[in-house]
Amino acid sequence: MTDRRTRGRFLTFEGIDGAGKSTHIAACVESLRARGIDALRTREPGGSPLAERLRELLLTEPMSLDTELLLVFAARRDHLEKVIEPALAAGRWVVCDRFTDSTWAYQGGGRGGSAQRIAWLERWVQGGLQPDRSYLFDLPAEQAAQRRAAARSADRFEREDLAFFERVRAAYLERAAADPRRFVVVDAAMPIDAVSKLLEEDLIKL
Ligand code: TMP
Repeated sequence: MTDRRTRGRFLTFEGIDGAGKSTHIAACVESLRARGIDALRTREPGGSPLAERLRELLLTEPMSLDTELLLVFAARRDHLEKVIEPALAAGRWVVCDRFTDSTWAYQGGGRGGSAQRIAWLERWVQGGLQPDRSYLFDLPAEQAAQRRAAARSADRFEREDLAFFERVRAAYLERAAADPRRFVVVDAAMPIDAVSKLLEEDLIKL
């Protein structure tokens, strides 16, 4: 068993599509590496060869909520086994673009999926593993939609309506309020420099 002191930290970035987390994920990884920390950047759904194939299906193929939920967790199990768990055990820090809070927000809040099922799958797939820190990029759904409109073509989730993203946002904020020690809620409407400064200060604390 790995000594707890040598385990790496697990950081996740969350938020509705268009909230602008990507720029800051790159900056976070760079900042950790500049401090001599061996940081691994990854993402969900995806992050391992098999999970990336499941991601492709999740983003393009019409499917029921149950199928979507099971595929998300199947991808997560493979990603954990092949990438996240070995990296943390080796003392690396893992910076992950989305994790299970996305499932609570999208399949739970957005699609109205059963909280009991999500909790059950979460326990099965992750055991007790939770991120050490989760940065939630919060932005009103309408502003996020405007930002998305300027970006690349929309996937199956990004094509959802405003009401869907309002539910996703509300579910995220509820998760953050329930676990204030893990979450840092970032006002994604702030200028990029201000967000970077806030994240940098929090990384120093970690
Ligand atoms: P991305 O565009 O930020 O990489 O995320 C792909 C989409 O997958 C995004 O719209 C949110 C969705 N998603 C879920 O619905 N459930 C999940 O558990 C995860 C990780 C992502």
